[in-house]
Amino acid sequence: MKVEELPDHFEKIFGGRPRIYRAPGRVNLIGEHTDYSDGFVMPAAIGFSTYVAVAPRPDRKLVIYSEEFPGHFEFDLDRLPHQRTGAWCDYVLGVAGVLQQQGQKLAGANLLVHGEIPVGAGLSSSAAVEVASALALMSLTGASLPLPEVAKLCRQAENNFVGARVGIMDQFVSCMGKAGCAILLDCRSLEFKLVPIPRNTRLVVCNTTVKHELANGTYNTRREECEEGARYFAAWDPAVHALRDVSVDLLNRHAADLPPTILKRCTHVVLENQRTIDAARALSDGDLARMGVLMRESHNSLRDLYEVSCRELDIMVEAAQDLPGFCGGRMTGGGFGGCTVNLVQEQHASDFAAQISDRYRQATGINPQVYICSAEAGAQAMSGPA
Ligand code: GLA
Repeated sequence: MKVEELPDHFEKIFGGRPRIYRAPGRVNLIGEHTDYSDGFVMPAAIGFSTYVAVAPRPDRKLVIYSEEFPGHFEFDLDRLPHQRTGAWCDYVLGVAGVLQQQGQKLAGANLLVHGEIPVGAGLSSSAAVEVASALALMSLTGASLPLPEVAKLCRQAENNFVGARVGIMDQFVSCMGKAGCAILLDCRSLEFKLVPIPRNTRLVVCNTTVKHELANGTYNTRREECEEGARYFAAWDPAVHALRDVSVDLLNRHAADLPPTILKRCTHVVLENQRTIDAARALSDGDLARMGVLMRESHNSLRDLYEVSCRELDIMVEAAQDLPGFCGGRMTGGGFGGCTVNLVQEQHASDFAAQISDRYRQATGINPQVYICSAEAGAQAMSGPA
C-alpha cells in the first residue's frame, strides 16, 4: 500500500476519514550505546516512516489494524492489559497505557498503522510506531505535549510495557529530527544541537539483513555492565551517577581496579562520548575526513570493547573502506546485525550502493539492502480529517 492510499483503506475498514500522523525511523551517526549511560548521541531521522491513521469511535474500544503487520486487535481502554501481549500492537498499547497513567482520558479510537521502515533492521521501527501512535491518540482528546515529552513517554512505554530497557535516542530523534541535520543530544538534560550534514553528502544505509538472537538479551546485559561500572566509579568519586560522569582521567586511574569486561564496556562508553562531541564539531566544520576517522574508531570500539558487532556488520564496514566517495562508516543501532551507516559523496552514492552490495554478497552469500537516505524531519501531522 502507498501512503496516499491510507485514507481510502482506512475508510474501507472502519468507515469515515482519518487524521494521519507520521513518525520517522533513524540512523545514528555516532554515540552508540551511550544513551542509557546519560551520554551523547548524534542520530538523524531518515525518510522511512510509520504512519498512523486515526478516527474516534463512539465506544471505549481501541481497535488496531495494519496491512503490513499480522493480526488485528481490539482492547477496552478501561481494561488495557498490564502485561505485554507479545504482538506488535504492544507498542501502541504501551503508549496508550502511559498516556492514561499520566492522567489523560483517552477516547475510543480506530487505528490503521502503515509501516515502511524495514523491521528488525535497527532503524527504530518500534520507536516510530510509538511516536506516531502517541500523536494520533492525543489528537482525539485535543491533548498536546511538547515533542520531547512525547519522546519520554514513548520510551517509558517501551521500558515498562514492552520490556526493552532502551535509552531515549530513538524516540527523541523520531520526534525532533530536522531535515538536513543530525542531532547532537545530551541524553541526560535532553539539550540538543542541530548539526548540519554537508549538503552534497548522503547517508547510505546498508542493511546486512541479519539479526542475531543475541540482540535483545545482550542489550540488557550491556546496560547492567554499564550500571555496574558506574557503581565502581561512584565508590571512588561520589560525583559519578552514570558513566557519563566518568572522565578519561578517572577511567585511566582506576583501569587496573576494574574487572576486565567492565573495563572494556566503560572504556567504550567514556571514549565514545568524547568522540561524539568531537564528531559534532567535525561535521559542522565540514571536516568529513575527521568525521570518518571518528566513525571508524567508534566501530572498532563497538566490535572490540563493547562487543556488539557481528561478522556481517564487520564485513559491511570493511567493504566500504576504499570505495569512491566514501567518507566514513560504522555499524549503527543496537548491533548483532541490522545496518551500517555510511557518509558518501552524493555523486558517488549510487555506485557506492551497487559496489558495496556486490562485495557483501560475495563475502557472505547474503543479499543486502541498501538505502540512499538523507536527514529528514521528525514526527508530524500529515492532514486533518477530510
Ligand atoms: C537501540 C536503543 C537505543 C540505543 C541504541 C544503541 O537502538 O533503542 O536507545 O541504546 O540501541 O545506541
